[in-house]
Amino acid sequence: MAQTLFLLPGDGIGTEIMAEVEKLIAWTNAQGLTDFSTDRGLVGGCAYDAYGEAISEDDMAKALAADAVIFGAVGGPKWDKVPYEKRPEAGLLRLRKDLQLFANLRPAICYPALADASALKREIVEGLDILIVRELTGGVYFGEPKEITDLGNGQKRAVDTQVYETYEIDRICRVAFDLARTRGKKVHSADKKNVMKSGVLWDEVAHAVAADYADVKFEHILADNCAMQLVRNPKQFDVIVTDNLFGDILSDAAAMLTGSLGMLPSASLGAPDKATGKRKALYEPVHGSAPDIAGKGIANPIAMLASFARALRYSFGMVELANRLEAAIAGVLGEGLRTGDIAQDNRKTIGTEEMGAAILRKLAA
Ligand code: IPM
Ligand code: MG
Repeated sequence: MAQTLFLLPGDGIGTEIMAEVEKLIAWTNAQGLTDFSTDRGLVGGCAYDAYGEAISEDDMAKALAADAVIFGAVGGPKWDKVPYEKRPEAGLLRLRKDLQLFANLRPAICYPALADASALKREIVEGLDILIVRELTGGVYFGEPKEITDLGNGQKRAVDTQVYETYEIDRICRVAFDLARTRGKKVHSADKKNVMKSGVLWDEVAHAVAADYADVKFEHILADNCAMQLVRNPKQFDVIVTDNLFGDILSDAAAMLTGSLGMLPSASLGAPDKATGKRKALYEPVHGSAPDIAGKGIANPIAMLASFARALRYSFGMVELANRLEAAIAGVLGEGLRTGDIAQDNRKTIGTEEMGAAILRKLAA
C-alpha cells in the first residue's frame, strides 16, 4: 500500500522549494524506489486568503492521517494585519500541537564546501555537526494565560506563561540522550535556572535522565552562555537539549554558523504509537518564507530537499535512499554549484529549479 505524504508548501518561497520535492518524489516513484501517494493542502497566509483560517479543518484531518507531513514555510508582510489567532504562524503551531510533535531536531552541519560562506572563520566552523533538540509543544509558546488585558488607566498588561511539567522535560531529554548515543555522546542542557523556576525543574529532570545514560557526557549550560559559546567555539557541542523558546533562538544562531539558513532541514516528531511504533512527523526547513525573494525562482531548495531526506530516514526507514540524497546534495555543492544565498567569489549562481535538477541528476547518476 502506498505511503501517504501530505504536502503543505505554505507561503513565499515555500511553493517554489516544494515543487523541487514533488519532482524528486515523481522520480523516486517512477524508479520504484518509493510508493508515495501525495496530497497537497494550504497553510499560513494562503490558507487565510482561501478559508479565513491559517489551516482548514479538512487539511488538519489530512495532516493527522498522513504518514508524514512535508512543510514549506509560512508568513509574509501581506498578512501582518490579520487577527492574531489567524496569523500564518498559527497554522504551524496548531500542526505541532495537534499532532503532538514534541521533539524538534535541528541539525547545524557545516558542509565542507561551504565553510567560507559562514560569517565565522573557517577553522571555527569547518566540520561542525551540532544537533539542537528543541521541545516543541510546551513552554511559553502554549502556556496559559496568554493575553493582553486593558487596565483601564491607559495601561495594558501582557502575560505569556512559561510552564513545563516533569513528563515534558523527561521525554525530550530522553530523545536528546538517545540521539547523543548515536553520535558524539555528549549532551548540553540549556536553561535559565538562575532566574526561572521552569529552569530549575528543567535542570532537575535533565540530571535525573542523565543518570540513566552513564555512557553519555552531560553538562548543564545557561542559555545565554550557550548563545555566546555557539559563536565562540561551536565545535564544543554535540547535542543541545532545550525548551521551546530558547530552542527557537539558539537554533537560528546555530543555523547561521553553517553558512546559510537555506541549508538546514528539521524534523518534528511525536511519540511512537504504542501499537504500531509509528511516529507522527512533520519535516520542514529551518528557514522561513523569505518574502523578499519569493516568486523570483532564486530560493535555495536544499533545506527543503534535505528535510525530505530526513522524512525518508525517520518516517520510512529508507536509510540508503536518504544517504544517497544527502550525498547528492553534498556532491553538487562540491562541484561548486551555488544559489545566491551561498554564493562565493563572484561565481555564477543558479536558481531553484536548476539546483533541484542538478541534485536529481546527481541522485540518478
Ligand atoms: C521556527 C519559527 C517558528 C517558531 C515561527 C514561524 C512560529 O521561528 O520554527 O523556528 O517560532 O517556532
Ligand atoms: Mg525560529
